Amino acid sequence: MDDDRRITALSEVPTEGTLLFTIRDGTELGEAILTKLDDGTVVAFRNYCQHWTDVRLDKGSGALVRNGDIVCQKHGATFGQETGYCDFGPCEGATLDKVDVEVDDDAVYLADDTFRFEHLGPSGEQDLSSGSRIDFTGT
Ligand code: FES
Repeated sequence: MDDDRRITALSEVPTEGTLLFTIRDGTELGEAILTKLDDGTVVAFRNYCQHWTDVRLDKGSGALVRNGDIVCQKHGATFGQETGYCDFGPCEGATLDKVDVEVDDDAVYLADDTFRFEHLGPSGEQDLSSGSRIDFTGT
């Protein structure tokens, strides 16, 4: 595996939470999250909700993972930790955007050729969701 694509040690990926990292798509920076399933499989998704795509699931200290679901704390949508499929909430039926990763020799690597690995942690972009926008539910 290419060292430039090494994200972190396998042991650093939480099962009841997520680990945030920054990726590059051409000139654009973006964020993704790693999480480990109970069977040890590691999956990754882009770090935004499917309801409002400017809302980050992991704001830097790990997304809420509860009963095998990644929970968006803005309006409570739940996404299956394995599939990213939303089975509850305002974006029910949508799926988180997956990022391909691979585990090799106790490390996790970015396997998705669309992106380059930049660094662990946030991209430095602001969460745009903290304003006073009101959606159709009045929240
Ligand atoms: S922004 Fe995630 S559920 Fe509304």
